[in-house]
Amino acid sequence: MRLKHCHNFQDFRTLAQKRLPSPIFNYIDGGADDESTLRRNTTAFDDCDLVPRVLQGVTDIDMSTTVMGQKLDLPFYCSPTALQRLFHHQGENAVAAAADKYNTMFGVSSLGTASIAEIREKYNNPQVYQFYYHKDRGLNKAMMESAKKVGINVMMLTVDSITGGNRERDLRTGFSIPFKLTIKGALQFAIKPMWGINYVTHPKFKLPQLDEHIDFDGGALSIGRYFTEMLDPSLTWEDVAEMVKLWDGEFCLKGIMSVEDAKRAVEIGCTGIVISNHGGRQLDGSRSAFDQLAEIVDAVGDKIDVLMDGGIQRGTHVLKALSLGAKAVGIGRGYLYPLAAAGQPGVERAIGLLKTEIERDMRLMGCSKVSDLTRDNLRFR
Ligand code: LAC
Repeated sequence: MRLKHCHNFQDFRTLAQKRLPSPIFNYIDGGADDESTLRRNTTAFDDCDLVPRVLQGVTDIDMSTTVMGQKLDLPFYCSPTALQRLFHHQGENAVAAAADKYNTMFGVSSLGTASIAEIREKYNNPQVYQFYYHKDRGLNKAMMESAKKVGINVMMLTVDSITGGNRERDLRTGFSIPFKLTIKGALQFAIKPMWGINYVTHPKFKLPQLDEHIDFDGGALSIGRYFTEMLDPSLTWEDVAEMVKLWDGEFCLKGIMSVEDAKRAVEIGCTGIVISNHGGRQLDGSRSAFDQLAEIVDAVGDKIDVLMDGGIQRGTHVLKALSLGAKAVGIGRGYLYPLAAAGQPGVERAIGLLKTEIERDMRLMGCSKVSDLTRDNLRFR
């Protein structure tokens, strides 16, 4: 199977699985506990159907949307994810370049393997910085300052990760940062030699946002332990209100699931929220973002931009979320498998395919712009 044979999410996933050593593939692919939230994130979209209108005189399709002051040509964006250099040697650069080509939003993670300064300088698209709030207050301050200095458009604080989700696949494979190979894991790397050759012949794996502050040389850390040992579980709404003031710009909370918290985000001056269960990787049994979308939009949709992520695999999933009132939706695995499968051309192909699907689906729905998609288009079974 090759890139040109990838036509959808599952095709990219299959190709990524062929290319990646299994500990790395399973890190991307897996969720917490029994992975029930991970599965529900996608199946939730099947509980409702689109009701098309015909003869609407649809000629041109305008997919653009404005979120937190950023004009995007597409109603979906590449949600920030960690460790991209591990999945492909081009890492964040590949994803940023592809997102820039389509003028949609991209974000670098606190656990990113490229520096926010480098990415900001190279690409012109709207960029978010995904922020993990660490116990080390000095580190938090330094990260905020450098994000401001380089001209990050939106600060995105992840609030669902004060401890690590129980990712049993990672426990089995021993996945950690930087690598600590178990015998079984090492065998996996040996049978994917292309990945190994690319990994050692390209610039070294690093975590530029954290390297100055955290000494990873002392031993490998699982993602769960990183969350639990490095992030600050005592963070409160008052602390975040301070951050919002200090940032003095577009500020978004990622990982909001309840109406009460959505209202609180409005009160402290956030300009956006992402309804998200972290791709099913944190609290298994948590409700899916799509299931929770309508009631949050009803409560705060006129005061704050409501975004969502989780489970998006198809253009019709995007249409359903927009119909319920999301301003835009984030994809994660939707570009990570393509990145692993083929680097920048892979991500470009994935974004292009999803764009084409949305365009076709909007046409078939009789909608020429995003605001034409409303709850009238949707029926729950
Ligand atoms: C994860 C983090 C790092 O889900 O976002 O693995």
